[in-house]
Amino acid sequence: MSKAETAPPVVMPAASGTADEAPIMKTYAPPAVTLVRGRGMELFDSEGRRYLDFIGGIAVAATGHCHPVVVAAIAGQASTLLHVSNLYGIEPQRELARRLAPKAGRDFRAFFCNSGAEANEAAIKLARKWGHLRGVGQGTVITAENSFHGRTLATLAATAQPKYQKGFEPLPSGFKHVPFGDLAALEGVLTPDVTAVLLEPIQGEGGVRFPPPGYLRGVRALCDTRGVLLILDEVQTGCARTGRFFAFEHDGIRPDIVTLAKALGSGVPIGACLARGEVAAAFEPGNHGSTFGGNPLSCAAALATLEVIEGERLAERAEAMGNYLQKELKRLQGKVATIKEVRGLGLLIGVEFHEPIAKDLVKAMLAHGILSNATSETVLRLTPPLIITEREADAFVAALEACLALHPALKSGIC
Ligand SMILES: Cc1ncc(COP(=O)(O)O)c(C=O)c1O
Repeated sequence: MSKAETAPPVVMPAASGTADEAPIMKTYAPPAVTLVRGRGMELFDSEGRRYLDFIGGIAVAATGHCHPVVVAAIAGQASTLLHVSNLYGIEPQRELARRLAPKAGRDFRAFFCNSGAEANEAAIKLARKWGHLRGVGQGTVITAENSFHGRTLATLAATAQPKYQKGFEPLPSGFKHVPFGDLAALEGVLTPDVTAVLLEPIQGEGGVRFPPPGYLRGVRALCDTRGVLLILDEVQTGCARTGRFFAFEHDGIRPDIVTLAKALGSGVPIGACLARGEVAAAFEPGNHGSTFGGNPLSCAAALATLEVIEGERLAERAEAMGNYLQKELKRLQGKVATIKEVRGLGLLIGVEFHEPIAKDLVKAMLAHGILSNATSETVLRLTPPLIITEREADAFVAALEACLALHPALKSGIC
């Protein structure tokens, strides 16, 4: 008998099974609901239940679900040209670069890819190539503890959180980590091997953590003094979420390289690495590339997303609604002792609790028709679509209050 004949039969689950019976690798915990339809701030599950979305696909659905301008652009491009290789000119890609790159700086240039991790990979490769050409450092990149830069091997090495790295060793070398927000510590590790510093302006996955005021300006000055590059990862903070198109605009500085993804395509995968001209020039034909990166469909979606962000003044809206939601959450904090801190900028908001109740709250809020997200046992992170109304913000705060009132740990007198 041949090997193939003796091998045990492969048992496939029924095709019509539930999501967790489907043959999908278990990289995410089993989902509580299956979402099938969305419009604006609303999502509907397979049972027809309605939810208000305070996750927004983790900061992706900035324009709201299925914005008609974005849907029309995708449909129009889909029936015109879905994909051609970067071996040829791609009009929507050129147009997107013309619209997007100047937002980062006058002579900035764009490289397009498909995700945040890929945008950061491109940034790290570009910085190293620039450093080798200019004789700056030996390719070492400094990143911050508690950061998140992606799940590819290089971005995992950049992500200074052992919980994500464990089990995937050996990780690529050339990364050093410092405490976030500590300028003196950064100065201490800026040794001659360093080529670049890579930071999130606000740590999103790390629990909506802010550096002290003036930190980014200090980092910029240190990088300038030492002649190394400053790379900002705006994958989560970018595209108007914090009330400016880029979060770095709040600090009045400009990085040498900035990365975007998440909200850029309103849900169609696209990432971007934007670099100032002299740095961007380090890439020559053949140095980097991506089959799908910058293809007509994703660029059409991103162009429409920019049109909506600008046309509906979503940065201003994120600022106003972020202030409103934070004010209401702080009002609740005045009534509920377990809320330790409400912090945020625009519509990137963290609610920290004294007790480890955040994950329970996510489940309880779901039953109230609210989708929310916990970055840890003690922090709820809110990244709703930027089109949110005061009424929807009020619904969130009311549901949170109701869920806190019912939580057994709090009822038993911890709070
Ligand atoms: C700041 C930051 N950088 C990079 C990434 C990775 O992006 P992606 O999941 O699109 O690879 C994320 C994702 O959460 C992020 O928040």
